[in-house]
Amino acid sequence: MKFYNIIADYYESFFPLEPQKIRFIKANQPVNNNKLLDLGCGTGQLCHELAGEDLKPTGIDLSGKMIEMARAKNPKLDFHKLDILQILNHFSCQQFGQITCLGNTIAHLKNQTEIVELLSRVYTLLDKPGSLIIQIMNFDYIISNQIDELPLIETKEWTFKRNYFLDNNQIRFVTTLTNRNKQEDYENEVILFPIMKNQLETLLEQTGFKSIKEYSDFYENPFSQKSLSYILVVNKDN
Ligand SMILES: C[S@@+](CC[C@H](N)C(=O)[O-])C[C@H]1O[C@@H](n2cnc3c(N)ncnc32)[C@H](O)[C@@H]1O
Repeated sequence: MKFYNIIADYYESFFPLEPQKIRFIKANQPVNNNKLLDLGCGTGQLCHELAGEDLKPTGIDLSGKMIEMARAKNPKLDFHKLDILQILNHFSCQQFGQITCLGNTIAHLKNQTEIVELLSRVYTLLDKPGSLIIQIMNFDYIISNQIDELPLIETKEWTFKRNYFLDNNQIRFVTTLTNRNKQEDYENEVILFPIMKNQLETLLEQTGFKSIKEYSDFYENPFSQKSLSYILVVNKDN
């Protein structure tokens, strides 16, 4: 998680928490269980905000720096440095009303087998009824349109360039972080597994999840094939 350790200090300025994300999660909250597990929580922005909204969030992330920052902001909240594939060992005694995996975190798993493992563990840890919310890039659109550059992110101090290169059914996610004042560049590369929409939906159904709802964004705009982002909500029924 070297890449995320490096960008942890700037993460929230590059990806500020959108209020509509909180509304979306609250709208999908089951009535009987207010515990939420955020997989790949980053600096814990979502958990910090949800804790003030009557939810009991727990955040996990593999980046030690991200978790350090999340804890520093609110030491009373529950954050763990943990691989998302290890949730069953770690939380076996708990049941969550909601599990979230946002910001393309699921694409950091190596292959379909790991995604199947994750979904089955998430299913076990969800209460009935419970909801899983996933946000990933719309890889169908990205690959079919050969999109190799995501929108440039610019702050006062930094520019953050993000490129995708398709390579043997994997994506090389190459980033360049440039400090405007010092003209310093930090380059990095992370391998992503570009799971396709149909493939993910089939795996969710095979795991036992029901009633897939799909959106383009957290404003609940319907999913469009041209959207860069893909958000889905599935349920574990009673
Ligand atoms: C793009 S960030 C998304 C952060 C946050 N969920 C958001 O929506 O802004 C991906 C996060 O997933 C974490 N991550 C990647 N692979 C992971 C794994 N196997 N287990 C736990 N965290 C992981 C990274 O450290 C990083 O913080």
